[in-house]
Amino acid sequence: MNQQMTSDMRQLLRRLPKAELHIHLEGAIRPGTAMELAAKNGVSLPVCDRVEDLYSYDNLMDFLAVYGAISDSIVTVDDFRRITYEMLQSAAESGCRYMEFFVSPHAHKGVPFARQFEGIRAGMAEAETDFLITSRIIPGMNRELGPEAGEDYLDEVLANRGEDVIGLGLDYNEAPFPPEPFVGVFARARREGLHLTAHAGESGPAAYIRGSLDALKVERIDHGYNIVDDPDLMVRCRDEGLVFTCCPSTTKYTTPWRDLTAPDHPIRRMKEAGLKVTINSDDPPMFATDLGWEFEIAHGDLGFSLADLKAAILTSLDAAWLDDTVKREWSADWAREIDEAFAAMPQP
Ligand code: ADE
Ligand code: ZN
Repeated sequence: MNQQMTSDMRQLLRRLPKAELHIHLEGAIRPGTAMELAAKNGVSLPVCDRVEDLYSYDNLMDFLAVYGAISDSIVTVDDFRRITYEMLQSAAESGCRYMEFFVSPHAHKGVPFARQFEGIRAGMAEAETDFLITSRIIPGMNRELGPEAGEDYLDEVLANRGEDVIGLGLDYNEAPFPPEPFVGVFARARREGLHLTAHAGESGPAAYIRGSLDALKVERIDHGYNIVDDPDLMVRCRDEGLVFTCCPSTTKYTTPWRDLTAPDHPIRRMKEAGLKVTINSDDPPMFATDLGWEFEIAHGDLGFSLADLKAAILTSLDAAWLDDTVKREWSADWAREIDEAFAAMPQP
């Protein structure tokens, strides 16, 4: 961390109320849980001496290979319940009160969607009772499987839809898989009333952000870092108030920007250009982080002032796919709580 941060400040950042809009269920599995479930379900994971070393890679492809192996280990209703509960518990410990999380049902080969959703819903309900955290599901579509598979995938999502399934995402390896071929399946999802988002500009070019907006009509962009290569698109996104769900620690693994303190780090540049940037944790244990830590590094490394952090939190809430009345109420409460927390901070 660039700047020395007092433990009071770290505690304060951790306690701030937060909304997480970009986290993957399968990427949020604790390494110990992954090992246990793999052993129970007879799945072999990459061999390693220490549990933490399971999560070792330094590019998107290698990361996705481990993500796939971990996903193979999640099989029963109770496995899904447990990983959902644990993800929400960890997030609540970082101050998270509301979460929209991605799931990758196609990654659990042969496990029916209905079984997966049953376990996930049980975990969501238990966590809401135990940790007062509300959550919603965004099934993520694996772009590597192509648009025809995407149509079948959407059928399955719609067949298992409840009020808690609020949107559709597009993820996995971006570079060779542009968004435009998914125009039909995203249009159908929109007609069905699902909100839309897409991973774009993480490992793919700025043109994929433009394509996600123009062809897929997404409402948010996940990551979006390569927008810094396209000043015109930056102006457009600023003027349109587009929200980006950024994930600081992820950039150290899946992008060329490994140094979060660098003046040209894209999240810093996006914020400075007036884009609506939110702070999220993506695949927290897999990228050695949690939501609280993402806020710490946003403040300590990426140049977010306390006012910027407050704005990022309220932007997340504003961009959440929640009822407007609820959002207004929470927003007023959270703003007050954040102001009180900042005011109580001992002055240096
Ligand atoms: N799935 C989980 N994390 C991802 C990321 N950072 N990029 C693309 N797909 C993902
Ligand atoms: Zn992601």
